[in-house]
Amino acid sequence: MAVYQTTVSAPVNIACIKYWGKRDTKLILPTNSSLSVTLDQDHLRSTTTSRADPSFDKDRLWLNGKEESIEAGGRLSTCIVELKRLRAAVEAQNSAAPKLSTFPVYIASRNNFPTAAGLASSASGFAALVASLAALYELPATPSQLSVIARQGSGSACRSLFGGFVAWEMGSAPDGSDSLAIEVAPREHWPDIHALICVVSDDKKGTSSTSGMQRTVETSALLQHRIAQVVPARMDAIKDAILRRDFPAFARITMQDSNQFHAVALDTDPPIFYLNDVSRAIIAVITEYNRAAGAIKAAYTYDAGPNAVIYTPKENVKEIVELLLRYFPQSQPFPDPFGLDVNNEGKLP
Ligand code: PMV
Repeated sequence: MAVYQTTVSAPVNIACIKYWGKRDTKLILPTNSSLSVTLDQDHLRSTTTSRADPSFDKDRLWLNGKEESIEAGGRLSTCIVELKRLRAAVEAQNSAAPKLSTFPVYIASRNNFPTAAGLASSASGFAALVASLAALYELPATPSQLSVIARQGSGSACRSLFGGFVAWEMGSAPDGSDSLAIEVAPREHWPDIHALICVVSDDKKGTSSTSGMQRTVETSALLQHRIAQVVPARMDAIKDAILRRDFPAFARITMQDSNQFHAVALDTDPPIFYLNDVSRAIIAVITEYNRAAGAIKAAYTYDAGPNAVIYTPKENVKEIVELLLRYFPQSQPFPDPFGLDVNNEGKLP
């Protein structure tokens, strides 16, 4: 008997222009467009296996080996139902196609990094889930079309369906059909940019992005200024910087946008604090590094958690790792994270 099973992996993406706020919570339509870089290392990925079988009892999902419930009308179920609907359309066109849309699916997903710690695990997770079911169902859909479905799992997931530099255009259609991810430039356009991930804490975050965003939308006046006056111009400026490979412009906008996102979190009532003392110390180190160089050589950015991501051209990576190890001597680099022969004792050769 035929086995219908696929395994797909998807990487995390880290936003330079942050998505924070929903104008429609069910469809996950954002209050502003956003832009990110999809990381292409092996360290931060979700890998998802999907299997359809008529003998299965119902749709089921395991995350890191633990079964999660699939609530009717919830985000997981929305994505699965939508992908089965597209599969049913394929079957309607081709009577020889097996009726996979009628089979229950088992889905097993694993992250090779801490889940829900501000490392965008929901982004890679939902992107891998959607890509794996789309492959299982052999859907004739583009990454942008699939991004509309992944968006309904977790907003930022829509951007992980592309590699490289990716925009999530907020769109204006009430049904969300034009709120989707597009490629700004492929990774090869600017391979020199590297992302250094500094795991400050791998605890689960205190305020989830969903509840945090809702509170910000309801209470922050600064958010209204941000979405109307700031983000549209920043989106244009950062796309331009990427297309021109202008690192100082890219870096300045990235840091400004991270700072404004955390200012908006602080402007929320009650306030939300995602950064901790170590996060702020890393900001100070990078600021001083750029000041001493007389040029912007690195950019920090933080999502809904204390962990830093530092974007920098490859030539600076070794220097920055050394600098961070000097300030934070107890840190443990991932083994050989950038092909730099960083050994397990945290020393660079
Ligand atoms: O997609 P969510 O609900 O995990 O929200 C992600 C929000 C940020 O990571 C803080 C910003 C972003 O654009 O990724």
